[in-house]
Amino acid sequence: MNDHPLSNSAEKCLAGKRVLVALTGGIACYKVCTLVSRLVQNDADVRVMMTEAATKFVGPMTFQSLSGNPVMTSLWDTGENPDAEHIGLARWCDLVVMAPASANSIAKMVHGIADSFVSTVMLAVPKETPMVIAPAMNADMWENAATQRNMSLLKELYPQVRLVGPEEGWQACRAVGYGRMSEPEDIVATCLSTL
Ligand SMILES: Cc1cc2nc3c(=O)[nH]c(=O)nc-3n(C[C@H](O)[C@H](O)[C@H](O)COP(=O)(O)O)c2cc1C
Repeated sequence: MNDHPLSNSAEKCLAGKRVLVALTGGIACYKVCTLVSRLVQNDADVRVMMTEAATKFVGPMTFQSLSGNPVMTSLWDTGENPDAEHIGLARWCDLVVMAPASANSIAKMVHGIADSFVSTVMLAVPKETPMVIAPAMNADMWENAATQRNMSLLKELYPQVRLVGPEEGWQACRAVGYGRMSEPEDIVATCLSTL
């Protein structure tokens, strides 16, 4: 009996589920390749959107290949919806996963800022749609009072959000502290228990 969260039979809960993955600008974008692949392997229908900053870490082509769907990066791209792609995608999904969630994108969510494809979709997602958010940032950014206040606001304003991490551990800035993104397996496990 294998009790790995990704090989448990409960993973079949993702069959036919429409999962929208939002990547924002952090080094942990590389871990989200594994996350997207795991979701797809478990029969989820996965769409990916990326901030401009996220595309500096991993190219959209990687996520297009892993998800089997076009990757949205701009409000001005024409997608499948003839009118507003951001509204169509916001209505389409059963679950939104923001990973990694940057300090900046969390701040935008709690202040209602919609100045990019990702931030506009996050504002347009119906309040009934669950969200899984995996913050990732340098420990000093995480401990900053502004970030901590934004996290409190996130919990208050978005009861549909389930937070995963961040964890304590080694960070790309060569320090040990809080702010490391949770592992893809833990994020998938949270998606499973959310849906
Ligand atoms: C090498 C590098 C690594 C970064 N890592 C992070 C990170 O892990 N978390 C974070 O919040 N910001 C990080 N940033 C800063 C964000 O990319 C920056 O605040 C950006 O404006 C975020 O935009 P977005 O939220 O639209 O993706 C990093 C920047 C660079 C250059």
